[in-house]
Amino acid sequence: MLQKGMMYLTAGVAALAGLLFGFDTGVISGAILFINDAFHLNHIQTEIIVSTVLVGAFLGAIISGRLCDTIGRKRIILVTALIFIIGTLFCTFAQSVEQLIFGRIILGFAIGIASFATPIYLAEIALPKKRGLIVSLNQLAITIGILLSYLIDYYFSDDGAWRMMFLAGIIPALLLFIGMLFLPESPRFLIAKGKILKAKEILKKLHGKESEFDFLAYLSPPQKNTKLKNLLRHKRLVTVLLIGITLAVAQQITGINTIIYYAPTVFKLAGFNSNNAIFVTSLIGLVNVLATLIALPLVDKIGRKPMLYVGLTGMCLSLILLGLSLNQANPSSLMRIMALLSMMVYITSFAISLGPMVFIILSEIFPLSIRGFGMSLAMCANWAANMIIAMSFLSFVHHLGMSNTFYLFAFFCVFTLYFVHGFIPETKGISLEQIEKHIFEGIKSKHLGQKEETHAASK
Ligand code: BGC
Repeated sequence: MLQKGMMYLTAGVAALAGLLFGFDTGVISGAILFINDAFHLNHIQTEIIVSTVLVGAFLGAIISGRLCDTIGRKRIILVTALIFIIGTLFCTFAQSVEQLIFGRIILGFAIGIASFATPIYLAEIALPKKRGLIVSLNQLAITIGILLSYLIDYYFSDDGAWRMMFLAGIIPALLLFIGMLFLPESPRFLIAKGKILKAKEILKKLHGKESEFDFLAYLSPPQKNTKLKNLLRHKRLVTVLLIGITLAVAQQITGINTIIYYAPTVFKLAGFNSNNAIFVTSLIGLVNVLATLIALPLVDKIGRKPMLYVGLTGMCLSLILLGLSLNQANPSSLMRIMALLSMMVYITSFAISLGPMVFIILSEIFPLSIRGFGMSLAMCANWAANMIIAMSFLSFVHHLGMSNTFYLFAFFCVFTLYFVHGFIPETKGISLEQIEKHIFEGIKSKHLGQKEETHAASK
């Protein structure tokens, strides 16, 4: 127990990177009101300051993928913590719009790296039977970070202290940096680099008695040639990359960030006044945290796919209800309540499905030698989709109307359900090495997580 405590403690510290991801994406929602006044921003400058973080995240994810496979998971998270610190200081002390934009790009860069490196580290230090739970800590931390950013914004809003809003992010960034100095490198990364004894020692510390069994399982990396060019000739590997990218994009095109970023706007359209709209938005943040907490212990019990089925169905139905409730020019109070309830159901459904599951499945399906590369590619697609949706949401609303826009997201939920059913493997309880072995044996993606005896039929 004491030794498994080590695994949880390590995961808890690394998950601070997820908290920074959430905090630094969320903090701008309140800060921008006061930045507008301080720098007399025009509408384009405002949009740039809000959205450059997504551009930075896209760049961070694409540039550092291979680096994660070469310098290691621990070092890349350490560097990320440093970038978070630098970006935070830049934003806090910015004297011009340009400096602020630059600071936001730096923060985005760090978010982009954190978004793929943290789940990999978490998956690689976890025992197979606890992997879902451990990787979900990343999503829990993201949701706590978003909620914290709303609360910090609220706390400093009386004085309009937007610099303090940014500066608050320095605390988790420093904690992450100091904490990571003491955390071990991922044992799987060490094995890939041939440092077997060191890996064994770390596994023992992390998993206690259970580590020996694990260790044996790790020892058979099936691939002989780990050059990217050669690996990409492998048909199944390319399929797995495409599946990862599609899943990552699905997380965004089903509309989550139109709620996270634009909830006050949607609530105002549903007839709430500004104050109530901001209050209700914090409620959404809270529900997001609570529902993720509920999901945590279930992932390794029920499995990834059943939770995706339930969550995606909930997301689809609640989006249809939301569309219906926003269908009138002057919504009645019944319609307003319906809009609020459907948003709550939507967030809950996301938090038990696409929220944590995308990070879990992505951290599991790529072979060790290209795990950093594969996950960074998928996350960069995720950030690109996020950017496109965030930037075009208001135009969609303008051209299609609010209701039709949400029906479109509902349609994407149906598509994702079909995709999950047809292509995503159930990876509950199976080791990362077994999944990898199955890829190189040419087993279909949907069956990558199945036990050996069922494979003959699925090749
Ligand atoms: C997504 C973010 C989103 C957050 C909301 C994450 O899984 O990647 O884009 O803002 O969940 O909880």
